[in-house]
Amino acid sequence: MIISGKELSAKMKADMAERLKSFPEKYGRVPHLVVILIGDDPASHSYVKGKAQASEQVGIKNTTIRREAQFTENELLSLISDLNNDDSVDGILVQLPLPKHINESKVIASISKDKDVDGFHPLNVAALWQKEDCIVPCTPKGIIRMLDEAGVEIAGKRAVVLGRSQIVGLPIAKLLLDRNATVTICHSRTVNLAEVTAGAEILVVAIGRPRFVTADMVSDGAVVIDVGVNRDESTGKLCGDVDFDNIAAKASVISPVPGGVGPMTITCLMENTIECFLSRINKYENII
Ligand code: GUN
Repeated sequence: MIISGKELSAKMKADMAERLKSFPEKYGRVPHLVVILIGDDPASHSYVKGKAQASEQVGIKNTTIRREAQFTENELLSLISDLNNDDSVDGILVQLPLPKHINESKVIASISKDKDVDGFHPLNVAALWQKEDCIVPCTPKGIIRMLDEAGVEIAGKRAVVLGRSQIVGLPIAKLLLDRNATVTICHSRTVNLAEVTAGAEILVVAIGRPRFVTADMVSDGAVVIDVGVNRDESTGKLCGDVDFDNIAAKASVISPVPGGVGPMTITCLMENTIECFLSRINKYENII
């Protein structure tokens, strides 16, 4: 079975669009997401465009602020401070990676935790690890949605996460653990990697290496989620971190690239923006 993130996304976006129709009357406006893009990385440009497109489909107001690679850290911090103080802004997303002269951690920590639609702010990360209410990072949130949609039982399963990034590997491991999977995190220093991945009933791959996971590393009947977005050097086409053609034959469930996790990430960003909007409105109403 191939889990189409594209189809599930379309369904979720249609539901959100329907829900948002009542917002202007109920709340006086629609949620507003501001995306900041620094520099000219082509992949980042394409992601930011996808976010603007999805916002339009759902009925979220999107402002994309583009600045040249020379934009300084202080200028960025000052821009974020203005957006934090702007009551008409509900979500702030700074597209990563940032140019090398800008300290990413400092920038992420400067975003108001209530507008942190990525769920990367230290207070949101802490809340996730303490099982408190938080903004769940978009890619891991999308992966869990896909598993649920495919009817995959997570509790009690051996789940292996390949990759330990702050954006995907660590938070998806935590979400799988919260759903009672037995979780192993693998990385570049893991010994006998193929043996560990072959023990996985659910395998999530997020290492950013084209077709790194081959069929011999995967057990028959495994559920395989491919988070990779790589450009195939020879064909110029997008490909994932797993060898899709050979693994699809033995996996019970697999996500494709493109059309898998990617669209789900953007769709969950729309959900997070709505969540930030609603919790800000509630706080505001409590104050008044
Ligand atoms: N760059 C790659 N993935 C992401 C993401 O989920 N959020 C942000 N802000 N930048 C990214």
